[in-house]
Amino acid sequence: MVGDSKEPQMTLFGRSLRLSPRRRAAVLAAVLCVALYPGHSVAQGQTSSSRPTLYQRLGGYDGVASFVALVFPRVAQHPELAHMFRGHGKDSQQRQFQLVVELICQKTGGPCAYVGRPMPPVHDGLGITEGNWSTFMKIISDGMNEKQYPADVRDEFLALWRSFHDGVVQK
Ligand code: HEM
Repeated sequence: MVGDSKEPQMTLFGRSLRLSPRRRAAVLAAVLCVALYPGHSVAQGQTSSSRPTLYQRLGGYDGVASFVALVFPRVAQHPELAHMFRGHGKDSQQRQFQLVVELICQKTGGPCAYVGRPMPPVHDGLGITEGNWSTFMKIISDGMNEKQYPADVRDEFLALWRSFHDGVVQK
């Protein structure tokens, strides 16, 4: 009789499953795959594939916008840099601010698309020197200190800002 079989039985949600040894092995393998798959959060809590992006660690869109809002006026009003921004109305400055936010959002892994112009033609002709760049990076670095970012965020964010150097500084 079927019910008298000596085969060990598997149960699923309280119901007994009658499976051949081969099928039982396949079911067990599938369960283990789901539980141990590297990108799956069950086994390890948080894995490399679910590590938050820099964008997320900065506090998402609001975090990025609040950092740019902190440093942007300091750059545009700095005695050494202000002459480059002279003649730009409020609307132009607002547009520029928004484009910087979108660029940083995109580069840090956020959901934005940068729709502005590439860096070299935008800054070509402004005559930005290495000295101007150092002044700019000091404003960025001081802003990060004020925000008290954790070390990993600070290092990655600084590296991102540095990566714009060649498109900004006059050759
Ligand atoms: C010493 C450093 C910098 C100075 C003095 C500077 C200055 C300027 C000025 C004067 C403009 C307006 C140009 C125009 O409308 O004709 C501009 C535009 C812009 N800058 Fe910079 N900039 C600097 C660094 C950077 C960096 C590091 C970034 C990277 C995020 C950046 C992103 C932008 C963007 C997105 C625009 C607007 C682009 C567009 O209108 O399509 N700038 N910058």
